[in-house]
Amino acid sequence: MKARAYIPESIFRKCLALSDENAYIKTMEIAAIILAAGQGTRLKSALPKPLHRIGGRPMLAWSLDAAIAANASRMITVLPRQSEQIQDWLDGRDFCIQDKPLGTGHAVMAAAPSLANFDGVALIMFADTPLVTADTLTRLASSIDATTSVAVLGFETAEQHGYGRLVIDNNGQLTRIVEDKDASDDERRITLVNGGIMAVRCPLLFELLVEVQPNNKSDELYLTDIIQLANQNGHKVVCQIADEAEIAGVNDRADLAHLEAILQRRLRHAAMQQGATLIAPDTVFLSADTILGRDVIIEPHVVIGPNTNIGEGSIIKSFSHIEGSTLGACCVIGPYARLRPGTEAGDGVKIGNFVETKKSVIGAGSKANHLTYIGDSVIGTDVNVGAGTITCNYDGFGKFKTIIGDGASIGSNTALVAPVKIGAGAIIGAGSTITADVPNDAIATTRSALDVRHDAAVRYRKLRNEQS
Ligand code: UD1
Ligand code: CA
Repeated sequence: MKARAYIPESIFRKCLALSDENAYIKTMEIAAIILAAGQGTRLKSALPKPLHRIGGRPMLAWSLDAAIAANASRMITVLPRQSEQIQDWLDGRDFCIQDKPLGTGHAVMAAAPSLANFDGVALIMFADTPLVTADTLTRLASSIDATTSVAVLGFETAEQHGYGRLVIDNNGQLTRIVEDKDASDDERRITLVNGGIMAVRCPLLFELLVEVQPNNKSDELYLTDIIQLANQNGHKVVCQIADEAEIAGVNDRADLAHLEAILQRRLRHAAMQQGATLIAPDTVFLSADTILGRDVIIEPHVVIGPNTNIGEGSIIKSFSHIEGSTLGACCVIGPYARLRPGTEAGDGVKIGNFVETKKSVIGAGSKANHLTYIGDSVIGTDVNVGAGTITCNYDGFGKFKTIIGDGASIGSNTALVAPVKIGAGAIIGAGSTITADVPNDAIATTRSALDVRHDAAVRYRKLRNEQS
């Protein structure tokens, strides 16, 4: 507990009106140890397992955030030796290195030097179990009190294969955990299994871990062996039960898809609770950070990538793909629209079918209803962008800007060759290729002269018929 360093204990207890020992210990400092040094070979990937994404975010990010939300004041990620990619991603956050993957107990030991003087609760988490909630972690950590030294998160499952089984005695005490490989036939039938996450008082955790021996089929130092050791040393061990969906782990790509499905259900449910309508929720894919205003309607088959905020009352029609975009209130997007990162639309903007936008500001009330590309542009308010308009932002070397003033009207099939500025209120005739700035309120057209040859079609058909 941080406060203890500078406030005498007796005063601290008074401040918080902590009367009994339990309440006092419940405020113990929490340090999360996140194990991420396993090989993750079953994913068959060049990308390290903790960086595989769920809901658009690396699994490790989910674990770290859950730890922060559970009030962990320190987080130490345990990494393997060659882990530059994860270290870069951690961007200065604490980590330690496990020299060789000798088991989960060995991995936790790698964090011992970082926690040398720590006397709070260590929350041991796995980077491949990203969906655990902060509430569950808090419940687990706060079950460590004056009498309880170890708390294990377990769950009931019909598919216990691969999990450590929780062996509970007649008094309800968790006496040991037996790994799948090492279990007897009777033990294998146990359906209460180890979710992998534990809360253990420090420095007891490390005192128990030095006693662990690799006496098992894998020749590994099992973290789970501390349960039996804690019991033998007279420490109380408890088990907290969580929902299987929260502690399902990722070993292969099928698990990754399974967890994505669980997370999407959570995100859709939360979006609907907050006042968005998802007409066919199972067909809508959201990101962890998606923000939907009240009364947003999302039609079937919409994908929303990271970093998107959709304003109140907007409608996202079917088959649209939106990422990195901010939309004002009452926009109508799609069907079949693609909004790429950097799209910022004001209130009441309409973006219709087969329109792509990127890095562009689109002012309130403006419309691009059909077959258009808007990139690197700043579009004012109440602009009408006709069908087939293209902002030609790239010349093969650099990207250039298109600026369109308020109330301008761009005729269909116009190429706006950037850098170019269309003044407010200007009208561009259909089919134009605009290569220079157009002043306010001007009409600009680039078109070859109309050539009409009367009855030429009749003569042409006759000629062709004679030839065949
Ligand atoms: C572990 C538990 C098992 C539990 C299951 C829940 C042990 C011995 N077994 O088994 O009881 O039911 O999780 O999912 O703890 N890791 C390291 N270094 C290592 C080995 C593993 O950092 O040397 C990390 C992995 O990256 C992973 C986590 O520890 O994040 C779990 O390792 P894994 O090999 O997946 O353990 P399981 O066999 O699933
Ligand atoms: Ca695992």
